[in-house]
Amino acid sequence: MTFEELKPKINDILTNVSTLRDEKLQKICFLLNENIDYYDWVGFYFRNGEKEELVLGPYVGEKTEHTVIPFGKGICGQVALSNEPFIVPDVTAQNNYISCSPAVKSEIVVPIFVSGDNIGQIDVDSELRDAFTEDDRAFLEYINYEIGKLFLET
Ligand code: SME
Repeated sequence: MTFEELKPKINDILTNVSTLRDEKLQKICFLLNENIDYYDWVGFYFRNGEKEELVLGPYVGEKTEHTVIPFGKGICGQVALSNEPFIVPDVTAQNNYISCSPAVKSEIVVPIFVSGDNIGQIDVDSELRDAFTEDDRAFLEYINYEIGKLFLET
């Protein structure tokens, strides 16, 4: 399914009044994992209150032991500090990388902003090398912008 075909499905999930926020995020993980063949692991990490650490939220894919990631550690921890999307074409070329599965070859992490604050991120892993482009970045930024609205309402 193309990004453009997925966008209305994402909006349907996010605007459904009878599901909780985490259920919506979980459904988005499933939607992306099922409909984009190179999105092999899809999950969310969120800042743990005022602490400089990320905590794993809803995800789909292989179970990971990295449920808490300090700011600065791994790709996710770097994005928590840089506030910039990070595309990693080849994870073996990264020194500051936390491996969740040897099958993963490339990764993209895109921050979620609420009122200008970086509150968390979406993390997608692929078993293909060099899987992600600027189109993925733009698509995930679109999703995160819509997700950010959920955090304004509560
Ligand atoms: N690879 C990430 C850790 C999270 S797992 O991909 C699920 C990182 O380096 O931060």
